[in-house]
Amino acid sequence: MPLRVLITAGPTHEPIDRVRYIANRSSGAMGLALAAAARDAGCDVTLLLGPVAGDPPTGITTLPYSSSKDLTSQLDHCFSGCDVLIMAAAVADYRPKTYADGKLPRTTNAMTLELEPVPDLVARCAAGKRPDQRIIGFALEEPQVLRKRATEKLKRKGLDAIVANPLATMGAADIDATLICANGDTLTPGPLPKADFAKWLVGWISGTG
Ligand code: C5P
Repeated sequence: MPLRVLITAGPTHEPIDRVRYIANRSSGAMGLALAAAARDAGCDVTLLLGPVAGDPPTGITTLPYSSSKDLTSQLDHCFSGCDVLIMAAAVADYRPKTYADGKLPRTTNAMTLELEPVPDLVARCAAGKRPDQRIIGFALEEPQVLRKRATEKLKRKGLDAIVANPLATMGAADIDATLICANGDTLTPGPLPKADFAKWLVGWISGTG
């Protein structure tokens, strides 16, 4: 049976009103490349795809999402059916506490937007995962603190591995990342175009576990 791989990609848009939102900067390029690489490796791929400009690869199941709430429902629906979750989505850390149904008028007054933390979606999946399931997260950080913070996130979120990648990855064609595994292994394939890194990571996933 082919490996069932669930991939999330792109930002979340957290609505303020019907026309405005807050979001992370994310092109979704890494997640799209992972979906294509997993498909090419013969995996059964489901892609939860946020609001991005690029088209999803053909030959996979793609389910669009917009907000972290949408993504939560989709993960609730899809996670139990996967063998591996690759959480490449740039989920917002905070979202507006209230939603204005309509368009908030512009005034000359200052405006305060109250934000609430977004629940950690990948940590929630990890807390409920079966022993046969694996979860790989992503951590984007400043280079000086990258390894330390990525390792903390790996442990705190209960992941099997985390891709530690420097801020320079954002919007770039290449990625210079390190895969940090729960058993302490660290693997650095070197700076690579995102498509090649995706192939390398899918190869690692297929060859382990
Ligand atoms: O904590 P941080 O946002 O840096 O962690 C990044 C990893 O956690 C990514 O895999 C991202 O998809 C995931 N994440 C999540 N839910 C959040 C924030 C991040 O699943 N609210």
